[in-house]
Amino acid sequence: MFAEKGSLFDYKVIEKKYAQAILTQIRSKNTSQVEFRKGLVRLGRVLGLEIVEDFETEENPVETPLGVTYRGIKIKGFENVCIVTVLRAAWPLTEGLVKIFYSARQGVVAARRVEEKGMHGTEFDIEINYVKIPKFGGDDIVIISDVMVATGSTLIAVLRELLKRGRAKKYYIASVISTPIAIEKLRKFAQDAGIDLKLYTVAVDPELNSKGYIVPGLGDAGDRAFGT
Ligand code: URA
Repeated sequence: MFAEKGSLFDYKVIEKKYAQAILTQIRSKNTSQVEFRKGLVRLGRVLGLEIVEDFETEENPVETPLGVTYRGIKIKGFENVCIVTVLRAAWPLTEGLVKIFYSARQGVVAARRVEEKGMHGTEFDIEINYVKIPKFGGDDIVIISDVMVATGSTLIAVLRELLKRGRAKKYYIASVISTPIAIEKLRKFAQDAGIDLKLYTVAVDPELNSKGYIVPGLGDAGDRAFGT
């Protein structure tokens, strides 16, 4: 359920059995790198299907080979989707998202927590090393793919980068695990920036440890997906 209908920020937890079972597999420390990566791809598809349910539809009558008109639909804004992958853990998640948003343009942002400096309260300094995103404007819908929304610091840094380049009609975040702290920060950011932002996540875990890892979490998603 969305928490804040009508406001600039909403979030939705995907409680479907399929998503929860895949999440359970990838939380396990015994899951191999390959299965972990495949799990992220599967969750990317689920998240894509959930996000597309939020789009409006319009009539799309087509004529079938039997010479009959079928009053079908098309999804408004589908051609205007741009997926932005937060490297590197979200790469497999995006692979799943693209199966649903098959016509999406794509961008990447390489962002790194400066872990050497530690966490300041619940904040990390974020270093953005590379940004390559297609041009987007007021008709476009941006989906940010980011597996672990722990402190929210990375996502806010990414959103700031995107806002320097234009304003989309709507922003979605496709994530696997988020925390209440990050959700509150994103809510405030969306309100201050005046952007329409919806977070989709498969779970909200209660806390962070002293190193900024989500607990119970799933560990370092980048390392587990790439075998580093
Ligand atoms: N990034 C991860 O990969 N895992 C966490 O728990 C937090 C951030």
